[in-house]
Amino acid sequence: MRAQVCIIGGGPSGLLLSQLLHREGIDTVVLERRSRDHVLSRIRAGLLEAGTVGMLRGAGVGAGVGENGLVHGGCQLAFRNRGFRVDFERHVGKGVTIYGQTEVTRDLYDARDAMGGTVVHHAEDVVIGDADTDSPHVTYVKDGTGHRVDCDWIAGCDGFHGVSRRSIPPGVVKEFERVHPFGWLGILSDVPPVAEELIYANHPRGFALCTMRSRTRSRYYLQVPASEKAENWTEDAFWDELRRRIPDDAADNMVTGPFIEKSVAPLRSFVAEPMRWGRLFLVGDAAHIVPPTGAKGLNLAVSDVHYLSTALIQAYGGDMTGVENYSGKALARVWGAIRFSWWFTALTHRFPDQDDLAQRLQETEIAYLETSDAARKSMAEQYVGLPF
Ligand code: APR
Ligand code: PHB
Repeated sequence: MRAQVCIIGGGPSGLLLSQLLHREGIDTVVLERRSRDHVLSRIRAGLLEAGTVGMLRGAGVGAGVGENGLVHGGCQLAFRNRGFRVDFERHVGKGVTIYGQTEVTRDLYDARDAMGGTVVHHAEDVVIGDADTDSPHVTYVKDGTGHRVDCDWIAGCDGFHGVSRRSIPPGVVKEFERVHPFGWLGILSDVPPVAEELIYANHPRGFALCTMRSRTRSRYYLQVPASEKAENWTEDAFWDELRRRIPDDAADNMVTGPFIEKSVAPLRSFVAEPMRWGRLFLVGDAAHIVPPTGAKGLNLAVSDVHYLSTALIQAYGGDMTGVENYSGKALARVWGAIRFSWWFTALTHRFPDQDDLAQRLQETEIAYLETSDAARKSMAEQYVGLPF
């Protein structure tokens, strides 16, 4: 088979890239290891920056988010029993949109179907060949039969555990990594959210986050030890602990119900540099992971896709500038989000080695945010998304 661009991974990065390129007449094939149902069963974050919503609209997949997305002009920060609001609209003139990543991925699959895009599921044993030459290829196995895709470019959109980053020879890529000493226990439940806006709560027992997917579906998280198993938490234990960690007025509003999903996610900061090797590009989680505080993961993936789709469209017009600049531009934005997610995590979580001095510093930083317009503006600017 021949395609101009071979995309490895059918998550949001790979699907959005194929959609944008297809609209410009560039043909792609997407190779996804899992079934479509499996990809659509993953529950991830649900907060879209305005730039992300703009990209989805530009790709012709903005209807779902337009109809069902909830626009939030601010969020609450809580410390013990006190909370205050950070007003994004006032400080930076825009908000964020609450809409699940699962829904974004479903909208992208529907759009790919509508345009007749090629997505191969159950593509196993994907191997990248000759990415450092002008004629790269990708081989894979499906239903026991080997296949080969000859292409001009390869986009590694295959997530943190994918094959793309590992296909680059040792010594080319430098990896930066820190694994945080705690995880997030997340649950989804068809109950109305405790508040109109998100609540990020710093509490001596650990961080808690109240978020949502809609006015009738809530998503809640509790900071837990990294080794914690989700099955150790009964529904009652979760609700009781959440109630303790959030301000009383929110706890009083809490409606409990059965869980639709329950899982523990680790917290990691990771960046691979550079994000290109010859004709292979790394995109999204394949190149970087942020801790979920602030929900930058999907938004960063979308900004990578912005830079890469623009670069490839330019390249087919004979201009290689975007290709040459892809890694540098994408990484500048990635590091901005890594820094913000790190700061926001450090501000709101309880660390195992948190001594009295560290405790006072954290409390003072939260007080500074509460009292300083400049501090809240800086937070708002990064929370709603740095430009791309
Ligand atoms: N061959 C083919 N497909 C693969 C392979 C492989 N060897 N390895 C992984 N994949 C597929 C996975 O099954 C998955 O569907 O690649 C896809 C990668 O999707 P995501 O992990 O969702 O990554 P990405 O598309 O970059 O999405 C960005 O940012 O932080 C996040 O939660 C956020 O997942 C979201 C993301
Ligand atoms: C989510 O809705 O899952 C979410 C929202 C905001 C975050 C993290 C996760 O900061």
